[in-house]
Amino acid sequence: MTKSAFITGITGQDGSYLAEFLLAKDYEVHGLVRRASTLNRSRIDHLHDPRLHLHYGDLTDGVSLVNLIHAIQPDEVYNLGAQSHVKVSFEMPEYTASTDAVGTLRLLEAIRAAGIDTRFYQASTSEMFGATPPPQNETTLFYPRSPYGAAKLYSHWVTVNYREAYDLFAVSGILFNHESPRRGESFLTRKVTLGVASIKLGITDHLTLGNLEAVRDWGYAKEYVEGMWQMLQHDEPQDYVLATGIGTTVREWCQYAFAHAGLDWEEHVRYDGAYERPTEVDALIGDASKARDVLGWKPETDAQGLAKLMVDADLEQMSRLLGRS
Ligand code: NAP
Ligand code: GDD
Repeated sequence: MTKSAFITGITGQDGSYLAEFLLAKDYEVHGLVRRASTLNRSRIDHLHDPRLHLHYGDLTDGVSLVNLIHAIQPDEVYNLGAQSHVKVSFEMPEYTASTDAVGTLRLLEAIRAAGIDTRFYQASTSEMFGATPPPQNETTLFYPRSPYGAAKLYSHWVTVNYREAYDLFAVSGILFNHESPRRGESFLTRKVTLGVASIKLGITDHLTLGNLEAVRDWGYAKEYVEGMWQMLQHDEPQDYVLATGIGTTVREWCQYAFAHAGLDWEEHVRYDGAYERPTEVDALIGDASKARDVLGWKPETDAQGLAKLMVDADLEQMSRLLGRS
């Protein structure tokens, strides 16, 4: 029988890859979209599929969630919607909490109110580890360092609680940074690869960044959404870390990306303290051995390979826009 899935955050990086993945698996896919004054669906515009259904709603609007879950009765729910930018969460802490923390509670309550037997995936994050040094796995102490990390930690624990209190099949995927050509333009990796393309094509000659010393564990988003689905197919609801296990500094990311375009990063990167956060997460490096052993999940793309594919994609797209391809 055809399965159905409901995805919050379907217009985002992960939501778009997950929708593609589930449609290829023959799911009927329902996505929550926010009303905006201009259409915000560029990542899913290519999905012309009668099994894809989009519904207006918002994680800050509990009534919309109750009505949609009641009407759709999905077999699986993926809660990927969030105000996902760490630095922005310092500027909009209350909105971030309403979406990223209480939004999860609203969705869980909508599932409970509908009384349906659904499987629930929560997009937890390595940001919850914050100040606790690497390597980080499912048993590592949480110590968030931003309103975003704190809000996500609430969602993580309320997901655990609904699993234990109401016997809901609810899991948290604690995902380390994952990127792609669809990554939002203000996240570090994409900001750099877009900067490389602009410099290479002569549009600008420099790129301005903040902290170059932070270490992140960067993987490829397309591989991570498969892990989300695998978590919901297992017999038992459990939490898993997904990561590559390799730490890369922001400085090294710049080296990889600029070098791939034949450029020397030190000639083009400038510093501006405005891009620093009030509290930084110095180092995130994940240990995904549980996902490997229990689910058979294994990442294939490392940071260097990712930098290359993202630079190539941005160069191609920008050349096309400039009519040079
Ligand atoms: P993203 O590209 O920023 O996408 C976020 C999605 O959430 C977008 O579809 C956005 O809609 C939607 N959204 C924002 N506020 C909402 C609200 N109030 N109600 C409903 N939807 C809302 O994020 P991503 O990189 O795909 O990440 C997916 C999820 O995984 C997020 O929860 C993120 O926090 C988490 N996560 C990401 C990473 C990572 O490295 N990418 C790592 C760990 C966890 P619009 O398009 O309308 O803005
Ligand atoms: N965005 C950004 N812009 N980051 C910069 C810049 C800059 O100009 N310069 C240096 N950085 C540093 C940040 O200080 C941070 O240490 C690192 O680059 C990565 O920043 P982001 O790409 O913004 O990602 P993040 O690690 O803060 O958060 C992402 O990963 C989390 C998982 O660990 C987001 O996708 C979160 O939603 C996700 O939960």
